[in-house]
Amino acid sequence: MPKLDNGQVFDVLIIGSGAAGLTLALQLAPHARVAVLSKKDLTEGSTFYAQGGIAAVLDDADTVESHIEDTLVAGAGLCDRNAVRFVVENAKEAIQRLIGYGVPFTRAESPDGSGLEYHLTREGGHSHRRIIHAADATGMAVETTLADRVRESGAILLENHVAVDLIREKLPGKRLGRCVGAYALDVADGHVKLFRARVVVLATGGASKVYLYTSNPDGSTGDGIAMAWRAGCRVANMEFSQFHPTCLYHPQAKTFLVTEALRGEGARLLLPDGERFMQRFDPRGELAPRDIVARAIDHEMKRLGLDCVHLDISHRDPDFVRGHFPTVYQTCLQYGIDITRQPIPVVPAAHYTCGGVMTDRHGRTDVAGLYAIGEVAFTGLHGANRMASNSLLECLVYGAAAAQDIRERLETIPVPPPLPAWDESWVTDSDEEVVVSHNWDELRRFMWDYVGIVRSTKRLERAKHRIKLLQDEIHEYYSSFRVTSDLLELRNLTVVAKLIIRSALDRKESRGLHYTLDFPEPDPIAPPQNTILVPPNFSARRVELMQQEPVE
Ligand code: FAD
Ligand code: SIN
Repeated sequence: MPKLDNGQVFDVLIIGSGAAGLTLALQLAPHARVAVLSKKDLTEGSTFYAQGGIAAVLDDADTVESHIEDTLVAGAGLCDRNAVRFVVENAKEAIQRLIGYGVPFTRAESPDGSGLEYHLTREGGHSHRRIIHAADATGMAVETTLADRVRESGAILLENHVAVDLIREKLPGKRLGRCVGAYALDVADGHVKLFRARVVVLATGGASKVYLYTSNPDGSTGDGIAMAWRAGCRVANMEFSQFHPTCLYHPQAKTFLVTEALRGEGARLLLPDGERFMQRFDPRGELAPRDIVARAIDHEMKRLGLDCVHLDISHRDPDFVRGHFPTVYQTCLQYGIDITRQPIPVVPAAHYTCGGVMTDRHGRTDVAGLYAIGEVAFTGLHGANRMASNSLLECLVYGAAAAQDIRERLETIPVPPPLPAWDESWVTDSDEEVVVSHNWDELRRFMWDYVGIVRSTKRLERAKHRIKLLQDEIHEYYSSFRVTSDLLELRNLTVVAKLIIRSALDRKESRGLHYTLDFPEPDPIAPPQNTILVPPNFSARRVELMQQEPVE
C-alpha cells in the first residue's frame, strides 16, 4: 500500500508564471486559495523576453474584422474562426486591464498634435498598425508588472519547483477520474512534493527548446504538453513549430531575437551583396507572414551557402532607432554591431509551438479539473502559423476566460482526498549524469536537422527511429535514478519531439509552418484538418460531457 499524504491543499494550483499563469492568478486570488509553481524565478519564461508587443484593435481606422482576417490568412486555412473572433473581440479589454495594472506601454505624439497616445507598431501579416508595445521590451514590462501585482494578491508563490506529473483520482475498476493535484520537485532540497488541488492549470509555455537553435529561454521544454499527454489529454497540430526569421547570428550570442517590429518600421532583409530578396518570394516582402520569411531566408542561405543574411535599418533616423529599439540596439552594440550604421547578421530559430493541449473556450482540457492556457494550449487561434503578437494576447484572453470559468465552478468541486506520497524507495542517485546531457544535445540536434524548417518523409522517419532509441534509454534512466530538473526536462522533450514527428508524418501536404519536400503544396482536395493525437489513456466520456455544455 503506498503511504498516503495530505500534501499542501489549494483551490487552484497554477503551474507556470508567465503572462497566462499570472493573469489567471491575479483574477482568482481574491476568490480562492491559489498557488503558482514556477520552475525558476517567478519572472523567468518566454513572456519576459517578448519584444514586439501585443496585437489589438486600438485605432479607429482599424477593425476587428481586419484583425480576424489577417489572423485567418496567416493561419493558412487551419484557424478556428470562433476562437479567432473570441480572442480578437476580447483584445481591447485585455489591454485595458494591463494598463490598469500599470504596464508602461510606449506613448508618442499623436499625428494631429493633440497630445500623447499609445504608439502602435506593425509586424508581419498585419494590415494595420495594431501592436501596442513597451519599446522593444514589451514582455519584460508585462511580466514584471503582473509579477508585482501577483506578489500583492495573496497567491502563494513557489519558485524553483518543477512539476513532474499530474495526478488523477483513482476510481473503482482502475478508471481514472478528475485531476486532483501534481507532484513537483523542490529544486532547493531535491525532494518531490505532493500538491493537492481542486483545479489544476497548466500554464507552462512552449517547447521550442526541442530544437538546437531557439529564441526561447531554457525552460521552454514542453513540460505541460508532456504531462497532459501522460494524463490522458489529446494534443493537436504539433507539426506547426514556428521559426522566427530573425535571430542575431554571432558566435558569442546565445540566440537573441531581433524583433519583427524592426521590419514593421522599415528594416530590409539583404543578401551579402546588398540584394533585397523578399520580393522574390512574396509581394508583401519583409512583412509577409513568418513562415514565408523564415523559409525564404533558409532557401537563400542553402542556395548560396551562407551562414546568415542581414537585416538593415540603418536608413532610418538613428534617434528613432535608438528610441524604439533600445534593447536590440544595446545588445547588438555589445557584440560590436551599431545597428544605426550597420546591417545585423540574422538567422531563423525555433520560436513558438503552435500546437498543444486541446482546450475549449474556457481553457478546459479533456481531463476534468485540468485546464491549459497560454502557449501550452491548442485553442485553434493560430492555425498552421501564428501571426506576430497574437500569442501574448491569447495568454491574456484565455487566462481571463479560465479564471471566470473556475470562479463559477469552484464551489461545486470537492476537496481532493489524501493521495500517495512520491515514492523514492526504488531509486538511487545517478552516477551517469553524462547520459542526460549527451541525450539533450543529440535530441535537439537531430530535431533541427531532420524536423526543421524544410522536412522530408525520409528525414522524419530517421528522426522517428532516433527518438524511439532515446525514449527507451531515458525511460530506463528515469526508473532507476532520483529525478533532477535536467532529467525531467529531457523526458518531456522526448515526448514532445515524438508528438511533433508523428504529427509531421501524418500531414501529407505542406501548409503554413509545415513544409515537406515530398508534398510541397497544400492538399488540393481534402479540406484542411487539424492533426489530433489521442493518448492511450484518453477517455471520450469526458469530451462528450464537455461538448454537452452550452457554448455561449
Ligand atoms: P511562459 O511565459 O513561457 O511561462 C512559462 C512558465 O511555466 C514559466 O513560469 C516556467 O517556469 C513555468 N514552467 C514550465 N514548466 C514547468 C514545470 N514543469 N513546473 C513548474 N513550472 C513550469 N509573443 C507576442 O505575442 N508578442 C511578442 O512580442 C513576442 N515576442 C517574443 C520574443 C521572444 C524572444 C520569445 C521567446 C517569445 C515571444 N513571443 C511573443 C511569444 C510569447 O512571449 C510566448 O508565447 C508567451 O509569453 C507564452 O506565455 P506563457 O505564459 O504561456 O508561458
Ligand atoms: C517579435 O518581436 O518579433 C516577436 C513577436 C512575436 O513572436 O509575436
